[in-house]
Amino acid sequence: MNERLARLAPVWRDRVQVAVEFLRDRGFRGKVGLILGSGLGNFVEAVDEAEAVAYGDIPGYKTTTVAEHTGRLVKGTAAGVPVIVMQGRLHPYEGLPSEELLLPTAVLACLGIDTAVVTNAAGGLNRYYRPGDLMAIRDQIDLHFHDPLRGLMTQPFAPPAAADPDQQARLADLGRSGGLPDLFEPRLAEELVAAAADCGVPMHAGTYASMSGPAYEAKAEIGMLRRIGCDAVGMSTAPETVLLKRLGVAPVGLSCITNPARETGQPELSHQDVVEVGKMVRERMARLLLEFLPRI
Ligand code: HPA
Repeated sequence: MNERLARLAPVWRDRVQVAVEFLRDRGFRGKVGLILGSGLGNFVEAVDEAEAVAYGDIPGYKTTTVAEHTGRLVKGTAAGVPVIVMQGRLHPYEGLPSEELLLPTAVLACLGIDTAVVTNAAGGLNRYYRPGDLMAIRDQIDLHFHDPLRGLMTQPFAPPAAADPDQQARLADLGRSGGLPDLFEPRLAEELVAAAADCGVPMHAGTYASMSGPAYEAKAEIGMLRRIGCDAVGMSTAPETVLLKRLGVAPVGLSCITNPARETGQPELSHQDVVEVGKMVRERMARLLLEFLPRI
């Protein structure tokens, strides 16, 4: 059994393993995993030698109910890098328990990827952000108020950041432990921003707030999110990145700003609006990813 599967709680592990073996038999392996958010699924057109399996054909996968989330796992190469792409994801607001919601992410990790690029459509909270801009996620605030990994891991606590024995000894002298490592790999976030500059894509770097949805935020919530330091808000990504990190995959986060989250004077936001702007920016996102992938 691979080392990542061993970290999953036994009740979950068996289900993940069945899907992993099913996909391995069909040649699914890769260096980088990509999870494509609302309206962003077209990146698969840039995948060479693409082969796809519908989620409904993979043992244990639930199919997504959200418009514009196709629901396929695609393998191939992009800019010469072996990739596995989740075209469509499940969302917490679909009401599934974590073991269903996160099963495809666990499978992606257990297929042996090193890095995962997790993308989403998001509302811009930072007043400098415009619809169509992209944002490298530096960190996240998970406002679902429960840890998605509850009951799903064999070791409930993550290992400390300081793997270096000298640093461990110094911290132990001080009666401290190493603390948590960065959730999003800082070097890769910087590389993503550099790649955007090199291919002329408008790019920011900031903090992503994950709300449980499906309602868009009330005005007072938007005010709160700004005050606690969030730059963009969406309804996904945070549960997946926590799991990826715990399984030893480096998460890279990329938000596509589809609308300003405004406190006043804005007509009600619809999922369709989000998907329409998503379509406008997806060409930019595909360009950026092709520039970024070889730099990982
Ligand atoms: N709020 C939450 N999720 C979103 C938004 C938003 O404004 N835009 C796209 N996804």
